[in-house]
Amino acid sequence: MASIPRSISTSMSAFTSMPCEQASEWPRHGGQAGALLERFGLPADHPFEDFSANLNPLGPPGWVPAWLARHVGELARYPDVNYAEPRAAIAAHHGVMPGQVLLANGGGEAIFLAAGLCAGGRAGVLAPTFNEYARALAGVGAEVREISLADSLEDLDAVFLCRPNNPDGGLLALADVDALLARAAACGCRVVVDEAFIDMTARPADAAALPTRLAAHPNLILLRSMTKFYTLPGLRLGYALASEALIAAMARRQPPWSVNRLAAGLVAPLLADTAFSERTRAWLAAERPRMHRALQALGLEVAPGETCFFLLCPGVELRRRGITAEALLERLLCGGILVRHTHGYKGLDGRWLRLALRDADANDRLLKGLGDALKGEEDRRGRLR
Ligand SMILES: Cc1ncc(COP(=O)(O)O)c(C=O)c1O
Repeated sequence: MASIPRSISTSMSAFTSMPCEQASEWPRHGGQAGALLERFGLPADHPFEDFSANLNPLGPPGWVPAWLARHVGELARYPDVNYAEPRAAIAAHHGVMPGQVLLANGGGEAIFLAAGLCAGGRAGVLAPTFNEYARALAGVGAEVREISLADSLEDLDAVFLCRPNNPDGGLLALADVDALLARAAACGCRVVVDEAFIDMTARPADAAALPTRLAAHPNLILLRSMTKFYTLPGLRLGYALASEALIAAMARRQPPWSVNRLAAGLVAPLLADTAFSERTRAWLAAERPRMHRALQALGLEVAPGETCFFLLCPGVELRRRGITAEALLERLLCGGILVRHTHGYKGLDGRWLRLALRDADANDRLLKGLGDALKGEEDRRGRLR
């Protein structure tokens, strides 16, 4: 298997203040289709299905539109600045104190607030991973080092990691997290674990695990996104869990009323919807292995992962025949399927693609699109020979 580099930086002294912006002509996020359409000479209204954004295809839960309609009159009122009700609901969900919860405007805001604690310091990022950690840290003047699990934490103020990891979906084993927490505690380094996708694994025990570590680890910060799981990118919801002291420090940097009133009001009823969580886990347990097998059958190399997206590249045989991820990306988009490039992920550098898992019918269309793209590319290369 083509290796997915876990550690890109081999030099322990290789610090950089802005590591992830070099591929400026590639859009930084999924869902930024316009730039890709332009890049490939396609019209702005070219129709496509979006497999680039990792959102739960079952959401938002069916009752959400009616709930929003019932509460629309509240648009004229500010939210409770302390978010007492949603914080209490999140605290009860995880068995922590409300003072250990910070409600955020998406997991993205939680990342930037956690990074704010490192202002002017040094942070390690377990790489390759979501670029926003490095961007948020650089934005507060922190020096950022891409590290591997084995690297020393001695001179770091914090280490950031993503579990399951974006872009490959790999789930760092709890034993490894525990070992990292112990090493970090010994040298006064904070550990920030972004669990934005943890509810979209077929392992509920893993989703519940790290909040139980908070009592013993005052250096641990957990970040969660409700945007992904409940498919609310237009509203945004996320939160951080940590010691009361760290939550208070993060809250000092948060703009007031950062989370809008309707999103904040949705937190408690969303968390109470256990049937939605169970349906999501059942979908994932069925679709992920089916798609994994089907993608491999197309000759693609699929990184081992546990969540609602796949990182893949043309397998050895396809690569030998000159087929590249970039050619597939372009052919897929021409055929009406948008997937995520990996330019800007150091070490992946566009050689891999990230594909969201969607409902079974959409996934079948993706498989058909991939089959067509591979065939089209093979034919083109055959004609060139
Ligand atoms: C790993 C990871 N964390 C956090 C976020 C941001 O979450 P939200 O959309 O809730 O701000 C994303 C979004 O892509 C992500 O991939």
